[in-house]
Amino acid sequence: MKKFSILTFFLILSLILSACGTSQSDKEKNTTSSSGNEKKKLKVATDANYAPFEYMDKGEIVGFDVDFVKAVAKEAGYDVDIVNVGWDPLFVEIKDKISDLGMSAITINDERKQTYDFSVPYFLSTNKILVPKGSDIKSAADLKDKVVAVQNGTTGQEAIEKLLGKNNKNIKKFENNNLAIMELTSGGADAVVADNTVVEEYAKNNPDKKLVVIEDENSFAKEYYGLMFPKGSKLKAEFDAAINKIFENGTYAKIYKKWFGTEPDIETLKKQQQ
Ligand code: ARG
Repeated sequence: MKKFSILTFFLILSLILSACGTSQSDKEKNTTSSSGNEKKKLKVATDANYAPFEYMDKGEIVGFDVDFVKAVAKEAGYDVDIVNVGWDPLFVEIKDKISDLGMSAITINDERKQTYDFSVPYFLSTNKILVPKGSDIKSAADLKDKVVAVQNGTTGQEAIEKLLGKNNKNIKKFENNNLAIMELTSGGADAVVADNTVVEEYAKNNPDKKLVVIEDENSFAKEYYGLMFPKGSKLKAEFDAAINKIFENGTYAKIYKKWFGTEPDIETLKKQQQ
């Protein structure tokens, strides 16, 4: 009887030890795969017609947003695959969870928040008016009775509809912002309303087009960009933490300086989180 129990004891002990051994080597296997190159790849949907945030350069999607999302994803432990799906399809992709997140200078607003989750704000923006030099348009009020080109489904469209009325025939809507600007430069519109950084960059980089940018703080509100997720996505919390990390560790400032040549106002962005 006694002999038996001692034997049983050693048998059980050896079983326990071997079980521990297996779980140890399993753990090692797991760490190697997660710290190796097999990070989970997230599909990121964008509309790459919005320089300097996301645009095509020699067949590649580049821009401030691209560098930003790569840095944030890396911090959160993911790889990204950025796909140029276009603006309207982007919203469908995220809603139907075909893509994991949207990155496209997307303004966080209440209407969109009903359908999507957004990261903490990462960029401050406002709509401005792009017009030919010498235009008599000096403020948003001057846009009445003018033909205005906008990208369909943007806050620029929303802002101009508020000023001119929702079904105003003078509002020309385009699938992407480059087409709206082309309408202006080819004489089919008197103005474009779009995000300040985009129109300012365009006017600066295309001096031959002789365009100027009009600011109207009373008509156009402050907006903040966020990364956009399907409602309830667990990625939101992970990306928020990663964004705050790159705000703190200088990575965000480095990317910002690369694209805009100035220091970012991180404090203003962080205040929005309170
Ligand atoms: N910020 C504006 C909005 O969210 C325009 C963004 C357009 N972005 C783009 N990649 N086309 O409505």
